[in-house]
Amino acid sequence: MVIDMEPETLTLLSRIFNGLILGAVAVGLWQRRRPRRHVPIMIACFAVDLANVLVVELNRAAVEKAFKTVAQTGDWILKFHILVSVVCLACYAVALVTGLRLLKGGAASRLPGTRGLHKKNAAVFLICRVLNFITSFKIGG
Ligand code: HEM
Repeated sequence: MVIDMEPETLTLLSRIFNGLILGAVAVGLWQRRRPRRHVPIMIACFAVDLANVLVVELNRAAVEKAFKTVAQTGDWILKFHILVSVVCLACYAVALVTGLRLLKGGAASRLPGTRGLHKKNAAVFLICRVLNFITSFKIGG
């Protein structure tokens, strides 16, 4: 889906969504003891985060640029942004797997490290998600 839009407008929209998702993540964490609220909020954050990446990628070939940047020297802030973004996506996957186990309850939720891993993963995710937001202002978009 290629959107006919000025790159500046796309960047602005992407940043607005980025900030809104961060706010929704905060609400989801606040509701972490209520799975009926926590789970749909976090899954919605994942979906909108993914959609945001896809829209930016399809319109500006961001992933291609990301691979080129990783291969080149310099531009460390962009490399760092790419690193924390990839870690965030991995954390979503871990949160989904461990979260589903917690939801199932019973033996699945008691598998070694399930709750502990969900919690540690949440800490890594939060740090990287905030760094992703901050560094998005230091790069082209
Ligand atoms: C990046 C996304 C997510 C983050 C940062 C996150 C974070 C957290 C945190 C901090 C807790 C509290 C753990 C504790 O103190 O014991 C929690 C609990 C929980 N999370 Fe997540 N979570 C995420 C996604 C998910 C997803 C996708 C699911 C389900 C598919 C899920 C299901 C649960 C469940 C069932 C609990 C236990 C609630 C209870 O206390 O009964 N989480 N989550």
